[in-house]
Amino acid sequence: MIKTSWTPASWQQKPIQQVPDYADKAALEAVEARLATYPPLVFAGEARKLKKGLAAVSRGEAFLLQGGDCAESFLEHHPDNIRDFFRVFLQMAVVLTFAGQMPVVKVGRIAGQFAKPRSAPMEKIGDVELPSYRGDNINGIEFTPEARNPDPRRIEDSYRQSAATLNLLRAFAQGGYANLEHVHQWMLGFVKDSPQGHHYQEIADRISESMAFMRACGIDPETAPSLRSTDFFTSHEALLLGYEQAMTRVDSTTGDWYATSGHMLWIGDRTRQPDHAHVEYMRGVKNPIGLKCGPSLTGDGLIELIDLLNPENEPGRLTLICRFGANKVFDHLPQLIRAVEREGRSVVWSCDPMHGNTIKAVTGYKTRPFDLILKEVKSFFEVHAGEGTFPGGIHIEMTGKNVTECTGGARAITDEDLSDRYHTHCDPRLNADQSLELAFLVAELLKTSRVGHQKQAVASGF
Ligand code: TRP
Ligand code: MN
Repeated sequence: MIKTSWTPASWQQKPIQQVPDYADKAALEAVEARLATYPPLVFAGEARKLKKGLAAVSRGEAFLLQGGDCAESFLEHHPDNIRDFFRVFLQMAVVLTFAGQMPVVKVGRIAGQFAKPRSAPMEKIGDVELPSYRGDNINGIEFTPEARNPDPRRIEDSYRQSAATLNLLRAFAQGGYANLEHVHQWMLGFVKDSPQGHHYQEIADRISESMAFMRACGIDPETAPSLRSTDFFTSHEALLLGYEQAMTRVDSTTGDWYATSGHMLWIGDRTRQPDHAHVEYMRGVKNPIGLKCGPSLTGDGLIELIDLLNPENEPGRLTLICRFGANKVFDHLPQLIRAVEREGRSVVWSCDPMHGNTIKAVTGYKTRPFDLILKEVKSFFEVHAGEGTFPGGIHIEMTGKNVTECTGGARAITDEDLSDRYHTHCDPRLNADQSLELAFLVAELLKTSRVGHQKQAVASGF
């Protein structure tokens, strides 16, 4: 394939999937021109720091935890929701760090995760056909012509929401909320009495004990900053390329182009055609990037994409986010791993156990059986053990809210229960209990798989 020179706008010369049809092109251009003058949401140095962490993951020395909403929404933009998400995320991270004995690279699907690829451009209810909902940064979820009409002003609103969300997350991560002396306080009220709550309590007690011991030895959060803060990074699917282009900036310290809408961006399974726009955009920015790998991807197809997206074979640049479905992991993952190993490519292998396991419940709700989610994660670890490679991370859709969107788990949510608290704007998410249950499982799997990967990084130093 002949590579032409890259610019933040070169994707516009390529075929593209999943673009909204804006009626008012002038209004769209005006918004994009304004956005290009707004402050970046992240700094290139932070993206490089994340890349370093992911490089440690690629060597088997750390584990990637990536998670958050399927789609953020304007309606759910509330400090309590951000805080509760962050609490569950910290709980998962601390479980993996302590029980799994691994430094954890923490990446939220948050502060920019708005745009959604859709299987059909139009949605039909009865005799009425309207454009599909594509995420709050594009159109509204209500089934009316007004709401479904793509509105460029939504892009600016999502930028501002992302900035506010990121601001609070940074404050939590650096300002004391993530202090390991607070492990008990991250517990959410409704989780306290569940089996997961009790299990977490045990781990938190042991961490407190270790902290007290270290304090007696002269190491405490005042003298050791890594105990009182954590690095938390943001990520989203880079689907709406006009927005991404406007947020693409030259880093003044290196002269390189960076996407500044989030630390890490990924390419969806529906938009990863090698000669199309999304791959073109992503190949030119220096951020760490993700590539969703579904059942239609072959070993050769993957290598072709790696050639484009990580030609220098830079560790930490590329995370392969595998989403096959619980019963297809053994059919698809080994050939991808073998292709990557054969060609000597450095990647992070991550497991998305959500997107290949979506079904329609008899009650009509879109759901995901928790058993299948666990099964996909277990199979992912098993295949890596067989191939001698490192299962580097998980990518999940989760929330800190007490929702009933995925069936199963220790509280045994049934098809009938789904209607109780089904709030998602898009795909069903793990609730706090289910997220913790998954973290315990992964911690166990990690402990076992780590045997073959002795060396470890130090969390703050990677
Ligand atoms: N700084 C370390 C890390 O991020 C330890 C740490 C501090 C931590 N707060 C945390 C780990 C919260 C997990 C969760 O890994
Ligand atoms: Mn989703």
